Amino acid sequence: MFENVKDDFPVLINNPLIYLDTAASSLTPKTVIDKMNEYYMHYPVNVHRGVYELSHRATQMYEHARTVIAKYINASFDEVIFTRGATSALNLVALSYGMDYLNAGDEIIVSELEHHSQLLPWQNVAIKKKCRLVYVPLDDEGRITVDNFLSVLTSKTKVVALTYVSNVMGYITPLKPIIDAAHKVGAIVSVDAAQAAPHLPIDVRDLNADFLAFSGHKMFGPTGIGVLYGSRHLLAKMTPIELGGDMNDNVEKDHAVWKDAPYKFEAGTPPIAEALGLCEAVQYIKKLDITAIANHEKALAKYTINALKKIPGITLYNPTTETGIIAFNIDGVHPHDAVTAFDQDHIALRAGHHCAQLVIKWLKVPATLRASFYVYNTFDECDQFVQSVIKARDFFLSVGF
Ligand code: ALA
Repeated sequence: MFENVKDDFPVLINNPLIYLDTAASSLTPKTVIDKMNEYYMHYPVNVHRGVYELSHRATQMYEHARTVIAKYINASFDEVIFTRGATSALNLVALSYGMDYLNAGDEIIVSELEHHSQLLPWQNVAIKKKCRLVYVPLDDEGRITVDNFLSVLTSKTKVVALTYVSNVMGYITPLKPIIDAAHKVGAIVSVDAAQAAPHLPIDVRDLNADFLAFSGHKMFGPTGIGVLYGSRHLLAKMTPIELGGDMNDNVEKDHAVWKDAPYKFEAGTPPIAEALGLCEAVQYIKKLDITAIANHEKALAKYTINALKKIPGITLYNPTTETGIIAFNIDGVHPHDAVTAFDQDHIALRAGHHCAQLVIKWLKVPATLRASFYVYNTFDECDQFVQSVIKARDFFLSVGF
């Protein structure tokens, strides 16, 4: 599957690189780079402001990108806000909805699987608004289960802020029943879909999430752009957290009247080239087919896990992962030493806490290795990676690091 796909990625051409760090950032296909170049070469001007032809073209392309992305996640055009990334999108929810609508004693449900970009904004709200941060107990494998979620859901729960796919464990959160239960007690649900949107079909209507955030750079798109989906009735009552140009209809000396969503949340010059790039990335995913992408990654992960299981001295933290993320360690070898050895074999992967320190603490280790797969990875690369793991283990253990 995806035999010739490497040719689509300029960085992979004539390059021995085995890239296993897509969970941090995916590689960029040429079509995405070309689309951003098209903007800078042919209509590199601001949107929504000029009444001249070039500005009209830039505006039309920028809003077309919003339409394509809205359709891709089954949202309406006015429910898609362009942000700087998933982090900005999740902060927007906490700083606007959280600060305006939560009160002392309210409960916010999170989990130890959360990336810092989902956890820290709600920690901040909890401290400032005197709310209680409640953690879903993870099961023995480190998963969020519906039963464990229900065990902490109360009439005081006002916000549920959970990841769709863990960026360390690769587990898929069973969101639908969680969202249904949260709504029954009147809570809203904010979903971190940064690791989901690149790998799973997303349908915000079917999921019935109130907010859902993702980044461009993990799904073939550029850095500097993300999306916040918000359900229309909530966006209508929320206040923007950034004020400035292009987000207001009328400004007086002592007050201003904001535009409707999504524009009231997009103060200043937006990431125009990046929006076009993300639109092209979505077209690329549609061409490859998201289900085929998911199946390919899962097959690579399963194949690699089976090989790693046979090697003595390897600890796998998520052998039952259902996505393309593997968290593991070489016993007795610091993960940062191991990735340096992999780098010498032209294999790139991440070591550390992956901006999700609570799950690393839950695993009771200082850090992990993490390999993450995407369409440009092959079974042959998995074999080379496993050989590199064996080599690194043998080297570090022989020199007694
Ligand atoms: N959030 C990114 C990761 O998990 C950077 O690596």
